[in-house]
Amino acid sequence: MNLSAPPPISQLDAQGHLKHFLTLDGLSPALLTDILDQAEGFLGVAQQAVKKVPLCRGKVVANLFFENSTRTRTTFELAAKRLSADVLNLNISTSATAKGETLLDTLRNLEAMHVDMFVVRHATSGAAHFIATHAAPHVSIINAGDGRHAHPTQAMLDVFTIRRHKPDFTTLRVAIVGDIVHSRVARSQMLALTALGVPEIHVIAPRTLMPAQVETAFGVRVFHDLRAGIEDADVVILLRIQRERMNSALLPSEHEYFHLFGLTETRLEAARPDVLVMHPGPINRGVEMDSHVADGPHSVILEQVSNGIAVRMAIMSMCLGTQNLHSAA
Ligand code: CP
Repeated sequence: MNLSAPPPISQLDAQGHLKHFLTLDGLSPALLTDILDQAEGFLGVAQQAVKKVPLCRGKVVANLFFENSTRTRTTFELAAKRLSADVLNLNISTSATAKGETLLDTLRNLEAMHVDMFVVRHATSGAAHFIATHAAPHVSIINAGDGRHAHPTQAMLDVFTIRRHKPDFTTLRVAIVGDIVHSRVARSQMLALTALGVPEIHVIAPRTLMPAQVETAFGVRVFHDLRAGIEDADVVILLRIQRERMNSALLPSEHEYFHLFGLTETRLEAARPDVLVMHPGPINRGVEMDSHVADGPHSVILEQVSNGIAVRMAIMSMCLGTQNLHSAA
């Protein structure tokens, strides 16, 4: 599969409505705000005796996860089921892909089953985009994380969680700490935070885990010292050290990383007293942060997971063109 230069594809349909959700690059602040507002409306579904709304009844959603996932796969499945869609979860290790079937042949066969939406996670950057360029015109594609490139629904649930605690994005200092160079989450977060008006975004990492030219590409400030980077931060987002994407020794050891960049209660005192601590998961306790911080009063890590269902319901219903029924209800 050659994904090096996918042709441009619009994420909006001819009427300007969301069709695919592949990247936050190019999406307007108004559209991102609309997603957050729609997600607010879906939060209450979790409190209902019957945790379902009929918005996507009759639609078929296929989860294609070519890379491991706990949170994203299960929250997409729950989101689709809460919207009353039929859900197919393809187990890639036991599917015909493992017998050599190409991605496009898998796609064509699922399209023949009248699938309306593919949710795609893949280790290769550009995979969801590639599928979107080859899918049938009525089919929507959602990127559930592609290589180092993008994880747009994760970034949306992160900004949704921030907004529920700190509604005015234009006053915030947000620090993103960790393996920035390998992180699709960081790229999508920087785009979302910037689009929504966050004036100060700090990225903090060892030099080996910081991408070149990140300041100019994303308009953020770079730090190699944790304390300086998180000083007076309203939000500290920690990122996982991604050993599986490192093809050379970029860190002396995880112990050394924790010694310099691991978040402890003492180090967190440099941030604002009401700081939010976030992490997309999975957490490596004792590497990115210690357990007192992960389970402490500032942590909203499990809230992020819960919010992910509502945010994914919003994005799925918007891409399937059914969210207006929800607004009118
Ligand atoms: N945040 C996130 O993408 O987690 P999973 O890999 O478990 O889906």
